[in-house]
Amino acid sequence: MTSTTDASDRGELLVLNGPNLNLLGTREPAIYGSATLDDVANLTIAAAQAAGFSAECIQSNHEGDLIDAIHAARGTAVGIIINAGAYTHTSVAIRDALVAAELPAVEVHISNVHKREEFRHHSYLSGVCDAVIVGAGIHGYELAVSYLDKVLA
Ligand code: DQA
Repeated sequence: MTSTTDASDRGELLVLNGPNLNLLGTREPAIYGSATLDDVANLTIAAAQAAGFSAECIQSNHEGDLIDAIHAARGTAVGIIINAGAYTHTSVAIRDALVAAELPAVEVHISNVHKREEFRHHSYLSGVCDAVIVGAGIHGYELAVSYLDKVLA
């Protein structure tokens, strides 16, 4: 799934969602809530536009697609918001791509991963992201835009 908005003065934010997040709204609603991925895209785009950014929202279940999108962002985006789903806990390759991008990046998790299974407590991405937002539900994406609004001022 890909959603885009028109370019605006402050540039584009790349909003990446990883595996299984296409099932938001029906997947484990007690943990992830009832909002869908379209809801996430809409609220993130609205927050981005309110701050003068455009946003490109991409979801993929494939690690390489996420990496390709991060590579493409090197020339086109001013910041990255990433919820890598389970790849958060496994992917050195996504970590390396974020380093290569040399862009401010915010890691978002809808659930509070620290209240969940031990294997979710470690993130390969947190050490290379500028901010980490966990457990705020889908509001975390708006918080991520707000953070980028400040640091890109
Ligand atoms: C998640 C947390 C991950 O541990 C999990 O694998 C997901 C979603 C979250 O948004 O809370 O797919 O990133």
